[in-house]
Amino acid sequence: MKRETWTSKVGFIFAAAGSAVGLANIWRFPYLVGSNGGGAFIVVYLLCLLLIGFPVFVSEALIGRAVQRNPAGAFRMLGGTRYWGWAGILTIITGFIVSAFYSSVAAWILGYLVESVLGNIHHFASSEEAALHYASLLAHPYWNLSYHFLFLAICTSILYFGVQHGIERGNKFMVPLLYIVLIILVIQGLSMPKGWEGITFLFSVDWKQITPFVVLTALGQAFFTLSLGQGTMVTYGSYLRTDDNMLSSCFPVAVMDTVVSFFAAIAVFSIVFSAGMEPNAGPSLLFRTLPVVFSSISAGYLIAIFFFLLVFLAAATSQISAMEPTIAYLIDEHGWKRHVATLTCGCGSFLLGIPCALSTNLLKDYLFFNKNILEIFDFTATALLIPLGGFFAIILTGWVWGIGHAIANLRHGAEETLDRYPIIAVYFRVCFRYISPILIIFVFLNAIGLFG
Ligand code: PHE
Repeated sequence: MKRETWTSKVGFIFAAAGSAVGLANIWRFPYLVGSNGGGAFIVVYLLCLLLIGFPVFVSEALIGRAVQRNPAGAFRMLGGTRYWGWAGILTIITGFIVSAFYSSVAAWILGYLVESVLGNIHHFASSEEAALHYASLLAHPYWNLSYHFLFLAICTSILYFGVQHGIERGNKFMVPLLYIVLIILVIQGLSMPKGWEGITFLFSVDWKQITPFVVLTALGQAFFTLSLGQGTMVTYGSYLRTDDNMLSSCFPVAVMDTVVSFFAAIAVFSIVFSAGMEPNAGPSLLFRTLPVVFSSISAGYLIAIFFFLLVFLAAATSQISAMEPTIAYLIDEHGWKRHVATLTCGCGSFLLGIPCALSTNLLKDYLFFNKNILEIFDFTATALLIPLGGFFAIILTGWVWGIGHAIANLRHGAEETLDRYPIIAVYFRVCFRYISPILIIFVFLNAIGLFG
């Protein structure tokens, strides 16, 4: 059977942007900015995107496009040994682990979307009340399990219809919708009294807050937000045609991802400031601070619905992309039919996600290194396996496949751009070979606690 491709590179752009834009943009980015010095963090973050995020993203998509295979096949073919095939399999396993715990967290978002429609989260008098409501929902095993199931069922049914009719079509619908909702929220936020203080906060630069640890956090964020290190971009790249322009396919994705992070931060902070709350609440911003804000503003009911719809769309398009490498692997390497591979992956993610969904209730006393099961999954994947996967990809591109071959391959479809701006090839050459691998090593060493 012929392997599927996107209908055009626009299909890739939407799918990859859908993958990139996720909880990391709308939930994590605002609270990182809020607790790490506002504008100064943003400057560091943009540098990280330039030096590590974007080059690794292009290298992964390039690997996929070069051999039109899932990560295991692609790594094996370009690396020339079965060990490289195993490295590819490791990235697929990483994606699968992410799909399990990501879904168990996205379940809270879906649950809160339903809560907001039911009118349950816009009548809190204090953040303690909001926190209590949040804790009582998370303490419920069935609440967690049913939304985990429902969220996966939605994503699996989109994947079921294949690359063009499922992933591409789903993203072409959900990504623009996400932008519309986001823009409505930004306008709403800025038109609220004192809303502009959010912007002032975002763009006030305080360099004193930038410690080495903050720099490494920004590096990790750049990595996770572009869905790197876990087979996703290799797989999505493998559905490009070999003569699709790599640069004009990847650049818009990085821009769209960054724009969403900024808009999300603007929306969140303008709303938070206009309600007179603090911006540095950390991860609880979403479930404790915002519901209090929704309770104190007019139209809070509607804004809450829009907000959780936004986060839901972002999470669903990312979830889909975390599952696709496993599905592509089963199809390419083992000859499975798409629908069988999809259902297997969906069931597998559900089962593996069960302990995560129960980690805030039935299994909450099972702690390892002071972390609950969900946090262990999260830490293993995002702090250890994802940097490792990205490291494999960039070493494969810059050193094993060979920088000459990689740049020559990058030229396919992008000859004109590269001839006009030779500096772009120099940039990729230096990043692929030196800058990105070295920075990833630092991210990794930080993750294992070497920098305290
Ligand atoms: N990029 C997604 C986000 O920003 C996370 C993600 C990671 C999605 C890996 C898929 C795969 O939330």
